[in-house]
Amino acid sequence: MNMKKTVTIAGLAILWIGAAHVTAGQDVPALKDVFKADFLIGGALNRNLVTGRDPNAAAIAEKHFSTITAENDLKWQRVHPQPDQYNWEPADSYVAFGERNKMFIVGHCLVWHAQTPRWVFQDDAGNPPTRDALLASMKDHIMTVVGRYQGRIKGWDVVNEALADNGTMRDTQWLRIIGEGSPDKKYDHIENAFRWAHEADPNAELYYNDFGLETSKAKCDAAVALVKDLRSKGLRIDGVGIQLHGGLMHPSVEGLEYAITSLAATGVKVMVTELDIRTQSRGYRGADIGQVSRASTNDPTAAAAETQKKLADRYAEIFSVLLKHKKDITRVTFWGVYDRTSWIGGSPLLFDRDYRPKEAFFAVVKTAQQQ
Ligand code: XIL
Repeated sequence: MNMKKTVTIAGLAILWIGAAHVTAGQDVPALKDVFKADFLIGGALNRNLVTGRDPNAAAIAEKHFSTITAENDLKWQRVHPQPDQYNWEPADSYVAFGERNKMFIVGHCLVWHAQTPRWVFQDDAGNPPTRDALLASMKDHIMTVVGRYQGRIKGWDVVNEALADNGTMRDTQWLRIIGEGSPDKKYDHIENAFRWAHEADPNAELYYNDFGLETSKAKCDAAVALVKDLRSKGLRIDGVGIQLHGGLMHPSVEGLEYAITSLAATGVKVMVTELDIRTQSRGYRGADIGQVSRASTNDPTAAAAETQKKLADRYAEIFSVLLKHKKDITRVTFWGVYDRTSWIGGSPLLFDRDYRPKEAFFAVVKTAQQQ
């Protein structure tokens, strides 16, 4: 081998090692080790990551996460787009990724008003299905999807976002058609979903998941009432997911503690299921996907040192609350892996657009080490 070639190969090797070093952050501690004694830590994974098209993001997940959630590929629209058509490939890749890395695999989500295909709520003539027909679709969907991953997906978000911010039931097609406008039937769609999920995989943990439980006491109280209802009927519910799509000014520490303690008091596990922090402080604070987009949460100052400092302080504050209540919290999952592929704009996660750990990452690690 001539000298020039040797030098080039050596140079490439250094570059390669350097790149891997930066992207996987080999020199920083792994979050799953940092929080090992406290709770599982993870992130929502998208299709590019689990199918190998974003290897740098995969490296972050492999290094740092002990649990994962599918960002979209197990939602009804993706996995069951037509009555007789299931699309398993992406979800299979997701589950395989989790198994390869020995992660606690979460399924998200079975019954939700959003990202559900139109055919579920409308027949060919455009009419709504009967209560029995909608229950039959729901049962078929849950039995098929949960059944396929029985024993492999360890926990399911069975029902997502069934409550409104003021603590009443969210007005969805599930509620309208199955609940038939009757107060006695207001939980019917939820109870049936939990019943069938348990039937499909008796060993899977089952969760109720929602946003705003940490900002609206009325909504949190309504989630508590829902858990009590399910338990009073002998149905299995293992946990409640506080999504925690937060901002620099919300939730308050008090609101977050209220949610953790009142949910835990019912006996369920509490988990933070979709953590991110938007740095843009104006506008809508909720996480309704009809009202949130990258554009609506964009922040022109996202990269500024001042913003990154605020974000780091905010993450430190939130993790100090989570660590204070670690006996009640089993899992903390970020909604994404790095800023570029987050569903919201600005700078919401711990890794920047180029996969590098941010000041917020180090603030979170420091918070854990100081406890
Ligand atoms: C979001 C995904 O991140 C986006 O990619 C998708 O376009 C819309 O849904 N609450 C939830 C998640 O429970 O499923 C949502 O995920 C974010 C809000």
